[in-house]
Amino acid sequence: MKTELSLLDRTLTLHRFPFRNNELLQAWDAGDEYLITHVEELALTSSKRILILNDSFGALSCWFSDRHEVFMMSDSYIAHKATLENLKRNSCTDVTLLNTMDEIPSNIDLVLMQIPRNNRHLVWILSKLRQSVDEKCPIISVNKAKEIHSSTLQLFEKYLGATKTSLAWKKHRLVFSTADCTPVQNVSDEVEWSVENENMTLVNLPNVYSGESLDQGARLLLDHLPSDDLRDFIDLGCGNGVLSVKLARLNPNASITCVDESFMAVESATRNLKQNLQTQREITYVANNCLDEFESDSASFIVCNPPFHQQKAITDHIAWQMFCDSKQVLKKGGKLLVIGNRHLGYDIKLARLFSHAQVKTVASDKKFVILQATKS
Ligand SMILES: C[S@@+](CC[C@H](N)C(=O)[O-])C[C@H]1O[C@@H](n2cnc3c(N)ncnc32)[C@H](O)[C@@H]1O
Repeated sequence: MKTELSLLDRTLTLHRFPFRNNELLQAWDAGDEYLITHVEELALTSSKRILILNDSFGALSCWFSDRHEVFMMSDSYIAHKATLENLKRNSCTDVTLLNTMDEIPSNIDLVLMQIPRNNRHLVWILSKLRQSVDEKCPIISVNKAKEIHSSTLQLFEKYLGATKTSLAWKKHRLVFSTADCTPVQNVSDEVEWSVENENMTLVNLPNVYSGESLDQGARLLLDHLPSDDLRDFIDLGCGNGVLSVKLARLNPNASITCVDESFMAVESATRNLKQNLQTQREITYVANNCLDEFESDSASFIVCNPPFHQQKAITDHIAWQMFCDSKQVLKKGGKLLVIGNRHLGYDIKLARLFSHAQVKTVASDKKFVILQATKS
């Protein structure tokens, strides 16, 4: 797998985070190369204030920090960590890391954006740019040409302003916009809905997973959460915190740690547990990569509805890391409860880690299976 980005007589060494020896996925894409080449052709004078949105693993931040003041804004903890490590790896100048709930810094001269997968997140970012960036500031976005639909461009026009696109290069297209639409659209950061049969109302920030309605896997899992005398629970990949709310209600003495790599997920979970629990509880909220740095043998119960994406790539390596970390962090006799689509084969993965005898099927339907693995 290629780790050297060589462009215009300059080379950067770039890795994904977390670093894996057998990594098959590259830490940048042709969209990053297109943006870099285009901006270098503009021959900007140095020390511009550049806002980079959704830099996946820090390729753009590393490149532009060389001559400019860079602000990298992303909802992903992993993108932040990857950017920091790649900056260090290439002896680059520091950049300012922000998440997409933060204020956009003042006096930005240029905005570069990898267009996010989630349209609600895109609309949120566009409306923030419209409110904070000067009309004269160029805003250049990029994505695979096949992902830039006329409906995507309509969102740019409605929430940001005048927009046109480039020709395609290596299957990517640039989108050029100006922050000048009128009227300025007000976009709420929260979408709120109730969970059927649970007396639970959830607020969802723009980039939270399944933010418009309850995930079907989570729906099934809600009916199979334990009511035990256990104390230390972890909700791994907590999203909006739906599972934690139910766990907290079923286990009044439990402490719960909600973990997610999305800052908006962690914030949504924080708001939802406060809003849906009547009493003061011992709950911790952590933006993290899986269970990195968690103490071994410290948790009694981990619940996990694993993701199958890292940034724009479909992959099952995060689920695998979540299972490995869980085994490490569980106490002896502790349990990991996992839900997944039948075809994902989590039963085989869990049996490899915990042994066949320690994995049982708790429930299933046509689409999903819930498995429980016990640490012996
Ligand atoms: C399928 S969703 C489950 C959300 C919620 N628990 C539910 O059941 O609706 C998976 C969650 O894992 C989070 N995630 C993805 N990669 C992660 C990582 N490396 N470490 C921690 N969380 C991660 C995603 O942001 C997402 O919220």
